[in-house]
Amino acid sequence: MMSSKVQDAFNEQMKHEFYSSYLYLSMSAYLDAANLPGLAAWMRAQAREEAEHAMKIFDHLLDRGGKVQLHPIGGPPAQFATPREVFDQAHRHEKEVTASINGLYGLAVDERDFASRVFLDWFVQEQVEEEKTSGLLAEQLRMVGDDRPGLLMLDRELGQRRGGASAPPPAGG
Ligand SMILES: [Fe+2]
Ligand SMILES: [Fe+2]
Repeated sequence: MMSSKVQDAFNEQMKHEFYSSYLYLSMSAYLDAANLPGLAAWMRAQAREEAEHAMKIFDHLLDRGGKVQLHPIGGPPAQFATPREVFDQAHRHEKEVTASINGLYGLAVDERDFASRVFLDWFVQEQVEEEKTSGLLAEQLRMVGDDRPGLLMLDRELGQRRGGASAPPPAGG
């Protein structure tokens, strides 16, 4: 059984993860319309991963006798200035998610909810990867700048990503 404080915080985090999925889907649609199917596919796989993160929390709540509360999810932005802006925004968003996971982790420790603390270890690790990858892609798009052949090459490379949650992003090395 988890405390109501921890339960509420997990429900909030589940909403953040679903919102992340929404945001990345919106970014994927923008990239697809911008004739960058590789970047769009990469972002779509990212959206799927975020929905999986939300479902991990859903299951943790159920496993621990917590109450699942599905809060309303806000609409993500639909317009973006450039592909580079998309990845800059994704990187900023991941940093916010990290801060939110860290807050949740601290709460689990304060509440002596050790099962939740251990459960959250995976999320802490995952955020290291998420920040690294989104930061790298934002940086690579900055390097490409207005060079169209470079952008097309990056698009082709990212299109290689397979949809699975554990598939490593090619550009991440
Ligand atoms: Fe996530
Ligand atoms: Fe993420």
